[in-house]
Amino acid sequence: MAQYLCLPNFFLLHLLILATLISKPILADPVRYDVTQFGADKTGSYGSTKAFRTTWKVACQSTKPAEFYVPEGVFLVGYLLFEGPCKSFMSFTNSGTIKAPLNYSNPTVIGAWIKFHSVFGMSFTGGIIDGSGGRLWACKSNKSDCPLGSTSVQFSHCSKITTKRLTAINSQIFHFAIHASEDIKMHATVIKAPENSPNTDGIHIQQSKGIEIIGASIQTGDDCISMGVGSSNIYIENVHCGPGHGISIGSLANRAIEEGVSNVTVKEVEFTGSTNGFRIKSWARKSNGFVRNVLFENAIMNDVRNPITIDQNYCPSGNNCPTEGSGIKINGVTYNHIRGTSTTRVAVNLNCSPTNPCRGITLTNIDLTYSKSQPALSYCKNAHGVTSGKANPPSCLAS
Ligand SMILES: *[C@@H]1O[C@H](CO)[C@@H](O)[C@H](O)[C@H]1NC(C)=O
Ligand SMILES: *[C@@H]1O[C@H](CO)[C@@H](O)[C@H](O)[C@H]1NC(C)=O
Ligand SMILES: *[C@@H]1O[C@H](CO)[C@@H](O)[C@H](O)[C@H]1NC(C)=O
Repeated sequence: MAQYLCLPNFFLLHLLILATLISKPILADPVRYDVTQFGADKTGSYGSTKAFRTTWKVACQSTKPAEFYVPEGVFLVGYLLFEGPCKSFMSFTNSGTIKAPLNYSNPTVIGAWIKFHSVFGMSFTGGIIDGSGGRLWACKSNKSDCPLGSTSVQFSHCSKITTKRLTAINSQIFHFAIHASEDIKMHATVIKAPENSPNTDGIHIQQSKGIEIIGASIQTGDDCISMGVGSSNIYIENVHCGPGHGISIGSLANRAIEEGVSNVTVKEVEFTGSTNGFRIKSWARKSNGFVRNVLFENAIMNDVRNPITIDQNYCPSGNNCPTEGSGIKINGVTYNHIRGTSTTRVAVNLNCSPTNPCRGITLTNIDLTYSKSQPALSYCKNAHGVTSGKANPPSCLAS
């Protein structure tokens, strides 16, 4: 009797599960807004800026989950401000190439070529983003009065954004910038610009927390990934960098009052032919800023000029350099399992502030050679911490 009663319930349960399995993707399927339906030209022969703006406006107002869809083709677009908040979760799918026109000059209003502002909840997938930076780089190589140029893609005051398989090439300046945002994940990113292209950072993070970058191949003319003031809870894993200037914290001490950088993990990184590996840089200027709780782990250096560097006398131009001593307090930076080759003899260079010496530096299992097999050297100034495991070059940390 009991079995009889149970049987229908059992079947009903299965039906219910089946029904939810079938209906859920259908309900969750976003409504697609294709830019070509709004007049975008996929042959790249005329500008699609207006069509992209209209598409976003409509998609962002959708009360059902919406998909901003860029089909295959080349789309020439000027400045785009993708303003939120949107009424529902947004998907941004790019199957084509979004290209900046060659002739565009500097934005005065939005600060980036493609800017997402106040977007809370979005997935951004695929395609190529071409910043057409060549003309600006050429100008910079010959002249000094060139436009400043634009970051290609900026997330500003955004949260809960995941990007997947984005490819960004030839930005005017930074390829991606994450600013005043939270919970941003970038997965499987490819970034490519020539080694001699000026200021073409891969990903720049500033005043943001909860940032995850997993899987990236970054070849540029400037920093691979840079973390500026106010970066915290940053997780970076499985990145290939180079050519370029390596992974940086800083520059810091730009101002007397600034937010610190804390809780940064960078692991499983391979650097090839970059000017730096892991670098922390600050100006020799008073500041209340700090760097705390940083882990650099499991890295391979292939012919890197400066594999491990702390430079608290950062002043790239060499002109009018501040000399008052950096106020940035560096405390708790661990380098674990870093191996490979340096193209200069000093593979570990810890040049800390005389007014605020570095504390709590940990060097564990460092195995770096100068060129293929010559012994490398360490340089320490005002650097305190502990060394364990392999120490090639021999550590010069003070206790
Ligand atoms: C720049 O290029 C775009 C797209 O090709 C065009 O619409 C615009 O008129 C051009 N602007 C100038 C100043 O040449
Ligand atoms: C810069 O100079 C080089 C060689 O001197 C020249 O080939 C190039 O066209 C110049 N570029 C610009 C933008 O003037
Ligand atoms: C540090 O950052 C990680 C993300 O990388 C986060 O999961 C963790 O909660 C943070 N720790 C603290 C103490 O905020």
